Amino acid sequence: MSTFTESVHGESLGVIKTKSYYEALGNNSNLKTDACCTSEKPSLEVREALKNIKDECIEKYYGCGLVFPGCIKGLHILDLGCGAGRDAFVMSQLVGPEGLVTGVDFSNEMLSVGIKNIDWHMSRFSYPNSNVRFLQANIEDLSSIASDSVDVIISNCVVNLSQNKRSVFAEAYRVLKKGGEMYFSDVYSSRRLPQALRDDEVIWGECISGALYWNDFLRLAKQEGFLDPRLVKSRLINVNNARIQERLGDIRIFSATYRLFKLPELEPDCEDYGQAVIYKGTIASDPYSYILDDHHIIETGKVFPVCGNTFRMLHDTRLREHFTFLGDWSRHFGIFSGCGKSMPFETASGKQDGASCC
Ligand SMILES: C[S@@+](CC[C@H](N)C(=O)[O-])C[C@H]1O[C@@H](n2cnc3c(N)ncnc32)[C@H](O)[C@@H]1O
Repeated sequence: MSTFTESVHGESLGVIKTKSYYEALGNNSNLKTDACCTSEKPSLEVREALKNIKDECIEKYYGCGLVFPGCIKGLHILDLGCGAGRDAFVMSQLVGPEGLVTGVDFSNEMLSVGIKNIDWHMSRFSYPNSNVRFLQANIEDLSSIASDSVDVIISNCVVNLSQNKRSVFAEAYRVLKKGGEMYFSDVYSSRRLPQALRDDEVIWGECISGALYWNDFLRLAKQEGFLDPRLVKSRLINVNNARIQERLGDIRIFSATYRLFKLPELEPDCEDYGQAVIYKGTIASDPYSYILDDHHIIETGKVFPVCGNTFRMLHDTRLREHFTFLGDWSRHFGIFSGCGKSMPFETASGKQDGASCC
């Protein structure tokens, strides 16, 4: 474990004890499991954007999922734990020259890769000015970022590494504008990890030691204001390493992408007000259907019944102009049918424990 001094805008943050990915791994071919790898196929838009990313940023990419929500032209995106900047430079293209991408990481080594490649990328995108900036900071303390100033937070395989996950979610909630969202991929466990596993440095470097038990994550996110976390995608992580697999025993590790909306009016459960939406098909990257989460695939032109929370996620956010809204709040029809509590992740053999919430 290395120790180094961090600074934000030249001010010392003191000494932070942590491991640097750059030092520890060199590049992504040195990983022992596929926790810090992405197996999903990106959309055409993202595949095109990836063609414009410098090799060095790709080689030092350690993400575990795709963190590119649609409908973000002109927005301010914050990438928590941006590493060498691959996702930040993809986002730079998706938000366009009018948007802004702020990447935050506490590792000098990782940030320096992004910083030295800003000019190369801006010239490649033919942007007159840079729309990407990198800040050195701990994501548990985002005091260099104003409250209510960010439209969308992304983060890729970082929260598991934080020593104080509660502060990460509290800070994310603070800096998001109302109606904004945190759209992030991370690593979760099927059970709480015993302390001996949490202290294992090799497993830490694989982004597994710090994995939150999924139900602890849901509770923490709700306590910090993200009242209805929505799962977009999940996969069982392959632990292709006998030593790590033996230490894990029956504990399964998942990579999952969640959306956390900053909408204080959301209710603890999915309530039925007889509402519905129709997707207009007007988000350029999603002409045929809009995927809000793993159980809301909303086809263009089709009336789609929704609970009150889903109604708000589409109506009180940047997504509003792309939907027609049917119904109001005048009559309550009880709990939205199908609500229940179970482990929400998919395993290799399909859905694990019954239906997820509405
Ligand atoms: C697994 S890498 C992922 C990097 C990047 N998101 C990507 O997809 O390539 C984790 C990154 O998070 C950074 N990191 C971990 N904990 C952090 C913290 N508390 N504050 C800021 N950065 C952190 C590390 O320095 C590293 O760059």
